[in-house]
Amino acid sequence: MTITELTHAEIKSLTEQYVLDTYNRYDVSFKYGVGEMLYDSNNKAYIDFLCGVAVTNLGHSEADIIETIRDQIDKLIHTSNFFYSEQQALLAEAIIKHSFPGKVFFCNSGTEAIEAAFKLMRRHAYKKGMEKPVILTLKSSFHGRTTSAMSMTGNKSIREGFGELVPGVDYVKENDETALIQAFEKYEGRVAGVLMEPILGEGGIIPLHPKFVTLARQLTEENEALLVFDEIQTGMGRTGKLFCFEHFGFAPDAFTMAKGLGSGFPIGALVVEKKSVDILGKGEHGSTFGGNHLACAVAYETFRVIHTRDLLNHCIIISDYSFDRLKQMKESIPLIKDVRGRGLHIGVELTIPARPIAEACMQNGLIINATANNVLRIMPPININQDKMGEGLDILEKVLKTQN
Ligand SMILES: Cc1ncc(COP(=O)(O)O)c(C=O)c1O
Repeated sequence: MTITELTHAEIKSLTEQYVLDTYNRYDVSFKYGVGEMLYDSNNKAYIDFLCGVAVTNLGHSEADIIETIRDQIDKLIHTSNFFYSEQQALLAEAIIKHSFPGKVFFCNSGTEAIEAAFKLMRRHAYKKGMEKPVILTLKSSFHGRTTSAMSMTGNKSIREGFGELVPGVDYVKENDETALIQAFEKYEGRVAGVLMEPILGEGGIIPLHPKFVTLARQLTEENEALLVFDEIQTGMGRTGKLFCFEHFGFAPDAFTMAKGLGSGFPIGALVVEKKSVDILGKGEHGSTFGGNHLACAVAYETFRVIHTRDLLNHCIIISDYSFDRLKQMKESIPLIKDVRGRGLHIGVELTIPARPIAEACMQNGLIINATANNVLRIMPPININQDKMGEGLDILEKVLKTQN
């Protein structure tokens, strides 16, 4: 089959005819990308402050990533988890060396990593002999679209209308220490685990307070429950550390990864701390595609690029510059209610809906995301240079100023 060059109108028409209408798309299709830039069918250039939702953290068409994909395709794409794989073994070692002693399970997406975390917590409860175990998550959380991930997602609009969901999940208001203590009291001896995003992404870039996370660590330890972090959006350098939990100075019992792990190539992972590695045994979980040669080779290269180019420090430098600029903007633009986040995972809360602002930015050559109704989310590649970051922020400033 040959892929022909279609116009945007043709692409849109085919999509509307043949693709299930589950996405609220912007009126554009892209032809190619280089670094932090994307180019549409009319060759119009856009600065990418979205990164495919925190996926292409190294930018588009990154030379070492492309070379790795080409090399690996020539050798081997997929065999099976019935066999050993050099790429999988090396990637697992890299993840563990950069997080904590433990082991990794590989899958293909964020929601599957969450499914694995769900099974880990349920299996932990089963092995402990807990009756009617409960998993606690946060009220504004988002964890994915499979039934267990949706059930553990606090945001009601994601859950509504799908009938009875997975039982044994309850939601605690984020950063509400009293509510967390009360939940542990209510489900005494039955809490299998607590699942939380260290910075709630889809929920509007809400950073968890260190005191709240420390309390969660303490309560899970006291109650023999697992503390699981969802690092699907915050991981792979997005917050200036490889994993966001590093900012807290202690580790969870497990964490999930996906998005930036494969630089655009689909891969997900559940990382389990050494005390808990025997909870899931042979035959108790699996995936056909999970951890195949190609996906693991790309993710391994992503680790290498982040470290050899010192991108975590670079991310912090660009982050400091961006927060300074955004805080200055807040002084002069009353539409900006709050600026928050960490690293290059930044939320700008507005006093008005964010989607029309994101649309206006698109018109002006900046791709930016609107989430939680009134929050603009800024997630450029972590290797973006200061000039391009500044150019993108100039566009945002201009658009926001014209709304006043
Ligand atoms: C924090 C978090 N968890 C889980 C997911 C689900 O990941 P995926 O879309 O790869 O299934 C997402 C996706 O946005 C996410 O942001």
